[in-house]
Amino acid sequence: MDKFIIEGGERLKGKIGISGSKNAVLPLIAATILQKGTYTIGNVPRLKDVTTMMKLLDLLGGKCEWRGDHTISIDTTGVENHVAPYELVKKMRASVLVLGSLIGGIKKATVSYPGGCAIGERPIDLHLKGLSSLGCEVTIREGYVDVTAKKLRGGRITFDTVTVGGTENMLMASSLAKGETVIENAAREPEVVDLARMLKKMGAQIDGEGTPVIRIKGVGELTPCTYDVIGDRIEAGTFLAACGMTRGSIVLENCIPEHIKAVIDKLRETGMEITCDGNTIKASMSRKRPRAVDVKTLPYPGFPTDMQAQLMAAMTTSKGVSAITETIFENRMMHAAELRRMGADIRVVGNTAIVHGVESISGAKVMATDLRASASLIIAGLAAYGRTEVSRIYHIDRGYEHIEEKLQSLGARITRVKDENMGA
Ligand code: UD1
Repeated sequence: MDKFIIEGGERLKGKIGISGSKNAVLPLIAATILQKGTYTIGNVPRLKDVTTMMKLLDLLGGKCEWRGDHTISIDTTGVENHVAPYELVKKMRASVLVLGSLIGGIKKATVSYPGGCAIGERPIDLHLKGLSSLGCEVTIREGYVDVTAKKLRGGRITFDTVTVGGTENMLMASSLAKGETVIENAAREPEVVDLARMLKKMGAQIDGEGTPVIRIKGVGELTPCTYDVIGDRIEAGTFLAACGMTRGSIVLENCIPEHIKAVIDKLRETGMEITCDGNTIKASMSRKRPRAVDVKTLPYPGFPTDMQAQLMAAMTTSKGVSAITETIFENRMMHAAELRRMGADIRVVGNTAIVHGVESISGAKVMATDLRASASLIIAGLAAYGRTEVSRIYHIDRGYEHIEEKLQSLGARITRVKDENMGA
């Protein structure tokens, strides 16, 4: 197992490119099951979660291969198997995204029922309710959810909660259903829109993606396609938070500023100067200490829960008091305790963290508990005095491509080493 050693105190400075979006590419890969054939997907980030999704497709009978650095080809002609086993689903919850595409493509799906995870319970009841509304039969037995569809027909679902994965599963399953489907209270996240765009390129009839009501008119068949993934808005936001905390000055390329408007607005409130030009973001903290700001996570276009931990890190050395409220997941504050070990003054009351900004924090040995928590600890380590060791960084490899190389190129002193204490 690896860990990061960070010698803090360097201001981030320079230019980097943002990779393709992890959360966008996972449903795109799943969607290739809908219609047998050969697909090419570009701008794919080389990440652990992507490899896991490719493995799942292979297991179902497909063939996934890297073609060059960031392109994959997927052949789903041989997809006959409909079982997503426990061993893969427990590694990556996004495996449940094959529910919608298996049902649409081969009319049956058996997927290991995902358990809770480090950030909350994360049930899939809404995914299942949605599939039932399309005429699917859903049974749960021996830890697996079994879904079959004798006749897949259009239906109407109003989601009780905005669910990204639930909306994506519905988009996929309904694209080949007979008749019209209406999804109300649909997720508006850019990753949902990206999936809808790829499905439309395949011939699906979808209207309203990016709004709370999506209408899908089922078609008889789709056509395989070539598609490029959008840039990763959370990776971009993470680098901006790191720039703020280290009081640096950076340029991000290949990103879509509009997708992180809420993050940009919040960081501007902290005193960061940000200018956007096409797919480039220029950010500068001008050696200033950030001002404390309050933030509440919300579904898109609100402030993303996947940026909450990184903003909390940035607030630890801000001027003032910041209240950070998490409304999407019930247990997403584990990083607060680790940040406290570095000298941060954070009190968690229910789902709100009250952060009293301190002059400076100091390096410490800390442990990553989930993907975005790992990012927050790295950001804190970059700004802290002295040496920080972040262990269990396998979490970060699930979602950030070459993070240490990118940070090094911005002047950070971060190295990956084997963690002798943690075993292999
Ligand atoms: C996706 C993202 C994740 C992000 C999250 C919220 C991927 C691969 N992951 O996760 O990074 O943090 O969106 O933006 O894209 N819920 C239910 N029942 C359901 C489904 C969800 O109660 O059937 C609840 C969840 O427990 C959570 C909320 O709805 O409290 C939002 O979850 P959801 O949007 O579904 O998250 P994911 O799609 O799993």
